[in-house]
Amino acid sequence: MISEKDAQYLEGESNSEKYRENRFIPLKNVYLNPEYRGRFTIKTPEKVKRIHDGDVVWVDSPEKDRASVGLIYVQTLDGRAGFKAPWEAKGGLTDWYHFREILRFGVDAVGAANNLRRGNKDERPLLLSFYDSELAQYRQSELWKPRHPIGVIVTGSGKIKEGLDNLVFTNEGRAVIFTSEAGRENLESSVKDYPNISVEVIGKEPRKLDMKQMLRILKSKYDVERFLALGGPGFSTELIMQGCVDNYFINISPELSGNDKIRSFFSHQDGLPELMDLELVSLKMLKYPKGEGAFTLYSHYVPKIN
Ligand SMILES: NC(=O)c1ccc[n+]([C@@H]2O[C@H](COP(=O)([O-])OP(=O)(O)OC[C@H]3O[C@@H](n4cnc5c(N)ncnc54)[C@H](OP(=O)(O)O)[C@@H]3O)[C@@H](O)[C@H]2O)c1
Repeated sequence: MISEKDAQYLEGESNSEKYRENRFIPLKNVYLNPEYRGRFTIKTPEKVKRIHDGDVVWVDSPEKDRASVGLIYVQTLDGRAGFKAPWEAKGGLTDWYHFREILRFGVDAVGAANNLRRGNKDERPLLLSFYDSELAQYRQSELWKPRHPIGVIVTGSGKIKEGLDNLVFTNEGRAVIFTSEAGRENLESSVKDYPNISVEVIGKEPRKLDMKQMLRILKSKYDVERFLALGGPGFSTELIMQGCVDNYFINISPELSGNDKIRSFFSHQDGLPELMDLELVSLKMLKYPKGEGAFTLYSHYVPKIN
């Protein structure tokens, strides 16, 4: 089912040399909110602690019937963070490791909007799993989680351009597509050949999907406690507008400006109905060697806990 090209790509992703610790420049905490010191932490492997300068913090949802959400977004200075290729963000290897591995080893599902690709057309579609074998081992033996998080795709239309036969759905794990009633009809014939893909309807119309319903289904039916959302901008704006984001992981590249045709991670036409009461959990910084961008800031915000 999986193409030869995808199989080769997957093998490359599983290469343990790629995850050698000395390839990653460690982050440094420039601020750590004392309220979160030692609290709300995910049990974190030593390797991650060294690169991330401490445990991974994740605040669960106050609504116990749904999965909690972490939103990861890479930001340019002007917020219009669309790059032709991820490396244009000048993030380098630590950014890649943070987004691809550090934020994933402890989550139960990783989700993206329809057709989110890594960048250039010739690249393979974005993987919704993680591949550091040390972290994969830790996840299974210490966190008692299955090898791969569930892959989630959100599509109102149900029209997935590249079809289902790509890595997004053959990440060796399970995948769930959340869609509308119309979307389900469009997906029906293609999904029947994939026993590990299920389809869930969370709205009547393509642009009126109930994100909380998605999170309730993920928790009650798929045992998902933590859901990492990768965007893009339409999907993340919808999650924010529907009050679903429990952790904002925003990595800022202070040097770069973006593409003004691309929207930012929050880009609702009317703005927020009211201000959010957020607080900063941590701010981390990375210094690059000359030529790789000056530095990057990693911020983690959560809705204020009263
Ligand atoms: N900087 C970052 O961290 C980051 C992260 C992600 C993406 N990006 C960039 O952002 C740009 C746009 O990405 P994108 O087009 O994938 O993102 P998007 O704006 O989230 O939209 C992608 C698709 O997701 C579905 N969707 C989005 N909003 C929805 C809603 N409110 N209700 C139901 N379905 C919804 C739609 O699928 P259907 O049409 O099938 O209904 C839509 O076509 C790209 O250049 C990408 O590289 C940047």
